[in-house]
Amino acid sequence: MIDAENLTRKFGDLTAVDNLTFHIKEGEVFGFLGPNGAGKTTTMRILTCLISKTEGEARIAGYDVSDEADSLKIRKIVGLLPENVGLYDDLTAYKNLDFYGKLYECSETQRKENIPHFLKLLGLWDKRDVRVGTFSKGMKQKLAIARALIHDPEILFLDEPTANLDPESSKTVRDFILDLKREKKTIFLNTHNLDEAQRICDKIGIFNTKLMAMGTPEELEESVWSNKTVIELEHVTDKILKALNNFPLNDIINRDNKLIIDVANPEKDNPLIVEAIVGAGGRIQYVTKLSPTLEDAYLKIVRMDQ
Ligand SMILES: Nc1ncnc2c1ncn2[C@@H]1O[C@H](COP(=O)(O)OP(=O)(O)OP(=O)(O)O)[C@@H](O)[C@H]1O
Ligand SMILES: [Mg+2]
Repeated sequence: MIDAENLTRKFGDLTAVDNLTFHIKEGEVFGFLGPNGAGKTTTMRILTCLISKTEGEARIAGYDVSDEADSLKIRKIVGLLPENVGLYDDLTAYKNLDFYGKLYECSETQRKENIPHFLKLLGLWDKRDVRVGTFSKGMKQKLAIARALIHDPEILFLDEPTANLDPESSKTVRDFILDLKREKKTIFLNTHNLDEAQRICDKIGIFNTKLMAMGTPEELEESVWSNKTVIELEHVTDKILKALNNFPLNDIINRDNKLIIDVANPEKDNPLIVEAIVGAGGRIQYVTKLSPTLEDAYLKIVRMDQ
């Protein structure tokens, strides 16, 4: 549905996007992660036909982003929440959506249906007749999300949709994205919020001018390290540590009477490790599993690049 092949964009001497290749299927939520200045917004702007590419190829639903006739078709099927929301301050919330609806050639029926629908869903219905110039950043952000959806697009490009939002509004928007996912919309999401990406994305690309890694959140997490075993004890003694020397452990950290152990074969060795600790006089309080997070994966992959 969204396909890039060796996509490259230069600004003078600066290469903002270097040889980017990826394929996003219909109905997938793709999270594009990367540090400030990585080229995420630039990529999104190329894919939504706002700026041209320098080299390579990109297609949206088979339409070529650099073909003039195709780009008109792309604009019809794509909804965009840009980095800078760009709404009309002098118009009310309702009139902003109505204006953009007309621009997208939505019928009057579609506008009369969709505008109240999205304003209500995003908690802005009470503010429909208020001038947008008086809106807070978060309110503008939510209105811009409604604008991205006004023409019932199949594909959505959301550039940091929950930036500026309070925790409750972030959750509203996240749940809203999950609803769109259930409706089988294809979503390309730029975000710095790793927790959000982990919760809502099917696939994640970690990008810093070049694509560093790509996979499901689980695949990326597993690429960092496998699960670790955490054993909390009343006291960690030398005798206990000595007893653990007999096991093939990749790593062991001893902190505040807590052993964080990277066990080579956890299912096989954990019961034996527990027995050995008890045998060495250890009083175990908790045994838990520590799983890597997307943040662990992200930081490792991005730091490898530096
Ligand atoms: N119109 C432009 N002219 C010159 N350089 C540009 C232009 N647009 C973007 N750049 C440069 O391209 C690089 C990528 O910028 P971009 O906005 O795509 O990053 P980003 O990944 O979206 O960052 P952020 O997470 O901060 O939003 C930056 O070095 C930026 O300065
Ligand atoms: Mg950006």
